[in-house]
Amino acid sequence: MVMFKVSRVETTPFDGQKPGTSGLRKKVKVFVQPHYLENFVQSTFNALGADKVTGATLVVSGDGRYYSKDAIQIIIKMAAANGVRRIWVGQNGLLSTPAVSAVIRERVGADGSKATGAFILTASHNPGGPTEDFGIKYNMENGGPAPEGITDKIYSNTTTIKEYLIAEGLPDVDISITGVTSFAGPEGQFDVDVFDSASDYVKLMKSIFDFQAIQKLISSPKFSFCYDALHGVGGAYAKPIFVDELGAQESSLLNCVPKEDFGGGHPDPNLTYAKELVARMGLGKTSTEEPPEFGAAADGDADRNMVLGKRFFVTPSDSVAIIAANAVQSIPYFSGGLKGVARSMPTSAALDVVAKNLNLKFFEVPTGWKFFGNLMDAGMCSVCGEESFGTGSDHIREKDGIWAVLAWLSILAYKNKDNLGGEKLVSVEDIVRQHWSTYGRHYYTRYDYENVDAASAKELMAYLVKLESSLSEVNDIIKGIRSDVSKVVHADEFEYKDPVDGSISKHQGIRYLFEDGSRLVFRLSGTGSEGATIRLYIEQYEQDPSKIGRESQDALAPLVEVALKLSKMQEFTGRSAPTVIT
Ligand code: G6P
Ligand code: ZN
Repeated sequence: MVMFKVSRVETTPFDGQKPGTSGLRKKVKVFVQPHYLENFVQSTFNALGADKVTGATLVVSGDGRYYSKDAIQIIIKMAAANGVRRIWVGQNGLLSTPAVSAVIRERVGADGSKATGAFILTASHNPGGPTEDFGIKYNMENGGPAPEGITDKIYSNTTTIKEYLIAEGLPDVDISITGVTSFAGPEGQFDVDVFDSASDYVKLMKSIFDFQAIQKLISSPKFSFCYDALHGVGGAYAKPIFVDELGAQESSLLNCVPKEDFGGGHPDPNLTYAKELVARMGLGKTSTEEPPEFGAAADGDADRNMVLGKRFFVTPSDSVAIIAANAVQSIPYFSGGLKGVARSMPTSAALDVVAKNLNLKFFEVPTGWKFFGNLMDAGMCSVCGEESFGTGSDHIREKDGIWAVLAWLSILAYKNKDNLGGEKLVSVEDIVRQHWSTYGRHYYTRYDYENVDAASAKELMAYLVKLESSLSEVNDIIKGIRSDVSKVVHADEFEYKDPVDGSISKHQGIRYLFEDGSRLVFRLSGTGSEGATIRLYIEQYEQDPSKIGRESQDALAPLVEVALKLSKMQEFTGRSAPTVIT
């Protein structure tokens, strides 16, 4: 057995190592500075404390983006030096974020070991490559992101760090081959266990969904399917699940080879960045080929999803509402009923209406998946989702892109169970329109202003907060912009008291609530790595059956105009148009 020694390396703090909503995300050129990653990892070990580190089993893997392989070797050596007993690595360093959560919760090592935490190496939907982003976040024993108490401690440690520990004499481990490699350290044995990236996750999915029913749907000649992993880690799961288990054609998989730079693309599953899928599904340009019945895309670490029907876009806010409305009948895991449902504040109120009609517990939380985790740990929530293309359930403590696709396939399978030989399948669009006619429709759009000057973004937000204090002034301004928009009856900065741990989160976005149920929400993104991103969320509820079939942009045009003028968007940002509209 190769032996290693522990070496203590002197270091000095770096500015700005504060983990955001989903860990620390910076440009690769920042991460490759000597000691930069090491400082953050040591600060994490120190924040966790010896009882969660000494003798522990930890997972290290991610979406495979550029710098991951180097980072994994560094973390292995630092873990060994800090007294960790074993490190689990997905083959080639690949594990999707939901798979990491599943591995922490479900995987049992050959010697009976269980993991108690994970370093996830991802910057999610941000581009990758030498000039793009890298990221790292820590997840806890429940499989969810570290709570603020821990991330605050990590940050404070990064401001005072003086040294880190790293194993000397421990060679790089070949992470391309599965199997266990053991080393001898001063405190005893240290193992690195490289395992198949997909098998634990596939097993979990099979325990949740009726794979046979989905298989039947997929094998119907009337059904066709397309999954685009945007060259993210979702590709490592797409073939084992959709092709090997469910019998889809290999040609249904698009961009399913994980790449360090995501093929030069922006791995964010939305109408702007998932161009190839959008075209194949017949949205945008008119194509000559008949589009598939169902299409979906994932982001870099495969926790986000976009669901499309033939020439039809399902908004994420509608998606979670429709999954919640159909879960009990269509998905065996939920056959006993839903414990509750939850959405983030900027997500549309489509889920609220379902919760009310089905008499389900309902929660509105700030943006960020960790808030759902608390509810789930307390047994209060089964299904949740966010407008930012995140959907999931209490099977793990992260959002789950492939789970969402399987949920939709399950609903389609259920709706078509007696219809597979029929004239025409019940389509994604049919399901959504049916949902609108039962519950009403929430027209919804989001405008993103990316990489805006940070000071100007703050000024815009401050202006909106100030404006909120006088509703009569707000309504005068609105009247001057459009007379066909209803009036604001309440405005505030969203604040959340966690019903489980009582913690309070303030300044979670500025809301303007209108008399007719419309909403305008302004937020600063917490996930960018450069400048500031302003997000503007625009929503309007329509119950009149004769008005639910309009084009979303037409229906929302008056509110959009009000939002842009009321916030003086162009004045503050210098932008005449958003970077991305979803
Ligand atoms: C990550 C989190 C999500 C959150 C999103 C918000 O993806 O996991 O829970 O909704 O970030 O991003 P933003 O850029 O709007 O802060
Ligand atoms: Zn992601």
